[in-house]
Amino acid sequence: MTKKKKAALAVSAILIIAVLSLWLFGIPYMNRHMKTVEFSYSEKAPKETIGWNGKKPLVVYFTRVGNTDFEPDVDAVSGASLMIVDGELTGSNRFLADMVTDMIGCESAAITLTGGHYPSSYDDTIDAAGEELRARARPAIEPIDVSPYDQIILIYPLWWNSIPMPVATFLEQNDFGGKTIYLFATQGSSGFGRTVSEIEELAPGAKIVRGTSIYCEDIPDAQQELTELIRSWSRQ
Ligand SMILES: Cc1cc2nc3c(=O)[nH]c(=O)nc-3n(C[C@H](O)[C@H](O)[C@H](O)COP(=O)(O)O)c2cc1C
Repeated sequence: MTKKKKAALAVSAILIIAVLSLWLFGIPYMNRHMKTVEFSYSEKAPKETIGWNGKKPLVVYFTRVGNTDFEPDVDAVSGASLMIVDGELTGSNRFLADMVTDMIGCESAAITLTGGHYPSSYDDTIDAAGEELRARARPAIEPIDVSPYDQIILIYPLWWNSIPMPVATFLEQNDFGGKTIYLFATQGSSGFGRTVSEIEELAPGAKIVRGTSIYCEDIPDAQQELTELIRSWSRQ
């Protein structure tokens, strides 16, 4: 075989490997992380309310939307893991919080940064969150007082297999002794990651109840799963 033919074969092999890798890893990655999901709340909204035994819980959630300086055309530009509900940019975790709040008929509170926001780009947010995690940062947030509640439903995304650092700020700012914290996580592949043990450590004295961790793409259709869990908790 001539040198030219060998070189052509090597280039073809590299191209085939590159295309196969993109197909195997790139497309599922983009599907998970770069997809914009658009729907109307009324299509997905809970069809029934669930009576909660005793004092109702507080739903507390964290989402990128509201804590990020999105460019006005972010959905068109990056489409990075965004949810648009009734034409409005809505965090996946905010949508889950709305569903749970509507099911129980309870109050909710968003963990909201008071200082700098995360960058519009998904990749830059990944970097910023990684730095915060390494530095064990506690970004400043608007205070949320959980003292009137016995039970909290905490809804958060996985960031680097961990809780986002603003969620750590919220946990450290409150005394959860004797309270129950029910967990809902959202993610692109990692289940609960390290988050349950992190929350146990940051909320000493609380009873932590692992609910479910929902894969991004399944969030709009999570109603049945949410209903079953909340019904089981409502009777405790
Ligand atoms: C900074 C950052 C880090 C992330 N890290 C993980 C991760 O470690 N594991 C995972 O499965 N998903 C990860 N994701 C995906 C998010 O959990 C997912 O996009 C989330 O459900 C989006 O919620 P939101 O739209 O309410 O912000 C990460 C997303 C971001 C922005």
